[in-house]
Amino acid sequence: MLAEVLLALFIGGLVYYLVQRSKTQVLKTEDGWWGAGAPPDGEEDISIRPFEVTTSDQELEDLHRRIDQTRPVPSLEDSQFHYGFNSHYLQKVVSYWRNDFDWRRQVDKLNQFPQFKTKIEGIDVHFLHVKPKKVPEGTTAIPLIVVHGWPGSFYEFYGLIPLLTEPSNPNDLVFEVVCPSIPGYGFSEAPHKKGFDTVCAARIFHKLMKRLGFKKFYAQGGDWGSLVTTNMAQLEPSTVTGLHVNMAAPSKFGVSMISSILLGRRFPKLFGFTDVDVQRLYPATQKMLVETIKESGYMHIQATKPDTVGRGLNDSPVGLATYILEKFSTWTNRDFRELEDGGLTRKYSLDDLLTNVMIYWTSGCIVSSMRFYKENFGKGLDQPHTRIKVFVPTGFACFPNELLHAPEMWVRQKYSKLLSYTLMAGGGHFAAMEEPQLIAEDIQNFTKKVEKKQK
Ligand SMILES: *[C@@H]1O[C@H](CO)[C@@H](O)[C@H](O)[C@H]1NC(C)=O
Repeated sequence: MLAEVLLALFIGGLVYYLVQRSKTQVLKTEDGWWGAGAPPDGEEDISIRPFEVTTSDQELEDLHRRIDQTRPVPSLEDSQFHYGFNSHYLQKVVSYWRNDFDWRRQVDKLNQFPQFKTKIEGIDVHFLHVKPKKVPEGTTAIPLIVVHGWPGSFYEFYGLIPLLTEPSNPNDLVFEVVCPSIPGYGFSEAPHKKGFDTVCAARIFHKLMKRLGFKKFYAQGGDWGSLVTTNMAQLEPSTVTGLHVNMAAPSKFGVSMISSILLGRRFPKLFGFTDVDVQRLYPATQKMLVETIKESGYMHIQATKPDTVGRGLNDSPVGLATYILEKFSTWTNRDFRELEDGGLTRKYSLDDLLTNVMIYWTSGCIVSSMRFYKENFGKGLDQPHTRIKVFVPTGFACFPNELLHAPEMWVRQKYSKLLSYTLMAGGGHFAAMEEPQLIAEDIQNFTKKVEKKQK
């Protein structure tokens, strides 16, 4: 009897210890320095400087000369997008880019939102800071940082930002949006040293938000942005009021997840899978495996030798557009691989797609953007942030054409305070750019839930 009581006490104590430990888990980090050479003596310049995108005749002439020198390759008959970007359709994109695309007009569009640069940990960080024109009396705007991914940029959010800062529904919350470029992307300076991963980006963005005077804020992201904002929540759970993601950061790929993949089709209830989960995760594990191999070649290259392929892309605008826009086709809807034009203009305008490409081209950031894969995967998959849960209220927007469906059960394993999990009506990987209205609605719904709880 006594032995049983002691055993019960011991188990109870162990459970209590584990629960308490997981409750207080905070991701640890140390300051970095990413500038060239050694850190200078003395204080870092912490001024915030206004920034505008600019262009020149010289830049455009150079671009056009390179486009004119592209060497077309005939695409295979009936190959659509199965061999990569269809070469026949590419000629049409290139012709539009060369003859109709108006970069100067797009530059004006980029400059419609106030942009800034400020030095953090030795490198210049570029960001938009969009304040609402008016805030309902007696309220303040809700600060929100939104973070892009690869091969996207801050431009992905241009449709979404006004929906958040100037909502048309008077019952909606009004946001103040900060939208940075990840270092090494767009107009943020690339780190000069090895090792810059999502945790470093998260730490830098916390410093940015502090420098802007925000004590607490919300965070939103997809792709790398979902992992960066997740890391922000792990680094400073008390600073991030709520986290909204439209891709689940890969949680620990442990026994429970692998067994749920292998056995979940047979025993969905056992793993907490819904009918939608089963529908999207299967028809066949084998097919899913083949799909994953087919679509992840880029990741293997970027996680190992980014500088090699990257040099070619940095020299050739056509090569760069091919590499980037193939992803906008397949990651928006994998059925678009069946189409000769990759379905690109079903969801986006060529102007918007090429503007994103031009941000990579003019800033010359493709190599540094690809390196982000090496810096993140190169440290191994078992990083502290993959082992620690998230203890900040979280909303998850589950888009039907996302690359890998994330069942609520998986998301909940990582995000212990999952307040909302929405099956979205349409959209894929580039949700903010493809479905700004839908994602704005989900951000509103989620934030209202969190705000209500706080009162
Ligand atoms: C947001 O909430 C409203 C009201 O409950 C609902 O009608 C709408 O479908 C929700 N939107 C999303 C994207 O979940």
